[in-house]
Amino acid sequence: MNGYINADYTFHLDKNSAQVIQNIIGTTDSFANCIMSTMLTSVANSINILSISVLLCIVNPWAVASLLFVVIPLFFLFNFFKDKMRFWGKELYEANQGIIRSINHGLGGFKETRIIGCGEYFERETIDQAIRFANASIAFYAFKLSPRFIIETILVMFLVAFTSILLLLGQNIQQLSSILSIFALASIRLIPAFTNLTNGLSVLRNSSYDLNQLYSDLKELEKNPNLKPIERASITKEKIDFRKEIILDSITYRYPNVSKNALNEISLTLSKGQSIALIGQSGAGKTTLVDVILGLLTPQQGDIKVDGISIYGNLRSWQNLIGYIPQSIFLIDDTIEKNIAFGVPENEIDQQRLDKAIQAAQLSEVIENLPNGLKTRVGERGVMLSGGQRQRVGIARALYHEREILVLDEATSALDNETEQLVTEAIKSLSGVKTTIIIAHRLTTVEHCDRIYMLEKGRIVKSGSYQEVVLKEQAIR
Ligand SMILES: Nc1ncnc2c1ncn2[C@@H]1O[C@H](COP(=O)(O)OP(=O)(O)OP(=O)(O)O)[C@@H](O)[C@H]1O
Ligand SMILES: [Mg+2]
Repeated sequence: MNGYINADYTFHLDKNSAQVIQNIIGTTDSFANCIMSTMLTSVANSINILSISVLLCIVNPWAVASLLFVVIPLFFLFNFFKDKMRFWGKELYEANQGIIRSINHGLGGFKETRIIGCGEYFERETIDQAIRFANASIAFYAFKLSPRFIIETILVMFLVAFTSILLLLGQNIQQLSSILSIFALASIRLIPAFTNLTNGLSVLRNSSYDLNQLYSDLKELEKNPNLKPIERASITKEKIDFRKEIILDSITYRYPNVSKNALNEISLTLSKGQSIALIGQSGAGKTTLVDVILGLLTPQQGDIKVDGISIYGNLRSWQNLIGYIPQSIFLIDDTIEKNIAFGVPENEIDQQRLDKAIQAAQLSEVIENLPNGLKTRVGERGVMLSGGQRQRVGIARALYHEREILVLDEATSALDNETEQLVTEAIKSLSGVKTTIIIAHRLTTVEHCDRIYMLEKGRIVKSGSYQEVVLKEQAIR
């Protein structure tokens, strides 16, 4: 969890959440139960086998030598199946992940699934993965059990054959029975130790695929400079104080594994207290630019400087200045209160700040009408609220944290005209105090902004006041 939560945003862009969940829950479990504990018991079993073998060697070296002759080929036989073990391990890992993924897809988009009528498709997909899981399990567990039966049978046959041969050779039966009783006693410990050891080797092979997945993720996350104790990071790095201006200096950004730049040499300046708007067609790069400003995406070229200090020296300190309202608000399955004071323990929630945020976001009436007021649960992803209410919770969240810079990505697009106006009023009344960056499709929303930037295919094609950019454009049309 530490690794994943501190990972770069781009790391998560191409990771499926099913794999992350599987790694955090399943693979760590298999590391503890299948790898660590198996290695420990295998060491114990090897010591047992070794010491009993030494005892038997002292009693009768010939018997041990011929026993080894029978047992060693068995080991090679099991070893022959090592690739199969790995394969079954891979199947188990992937099928398990597939099950989580198809449950997520089918039930996560329940409305769409029901209306389109494709429930059966997701059910089939889940069942297919479950069957794949079952088949790999059957094969693996059957194989894991087989050494026990084979070894037991072979050892018993060996004892019978060995005794018969010695009797035929005319050995004294009394002398023989004392040796045999030692062998019989030893085999009581030896057989389980042997079968456990071969079981253990199978389990290790089987889990190696899981372990590799976890290892490669951890290795990749290790490279991430964020993965350091927060205290250490803030001591060594310069704190970012925003007094005058933010300068974006020729920012160029390209998403990983994409050949085209999403942003091309974007430069702009934002003074304290100013509000700017980013407008442009869908896909123009507005959200990408905001993600770069937020420090979620690191540009390949260019720099963002706050009063002359690059934000990349201390991202945490920079992000501590920002309140962000995304295009789609993520709500947790908890009370409204905890959704607004996101990530703050319940006993540390500041009621005054909460009230202020609720009022500014035009949420007071909504909350009054809820059965338990602020303590009403909103359901998973806020399903018990309307789209506009969800968005207002997102706005209240950004306001609660009282950050100096507000970034709004289509923050008011789900609101009706009247509510939007009220929210915009509230935000406007904050401008002058707060610095705001607004993305909006509805141009009336950005009328009050000091400067408008129009984006097209990742470039700023026009900038200036509302009159210059929007009204002129409309006049031309
Ligand atoms: N994770 C990603 N990987 C690759 N390309 C991406 C990724 N996210 C966005 N893009 C591409 O980058 C371009 C800009 O997307 P962006 O989300 O910034 O647009 P936008 O201006 O916010 O659009 P909208 O108004 O619809 O929200 C688009 O062409 C999009 O396909
Ligand atoms: Mg967008």
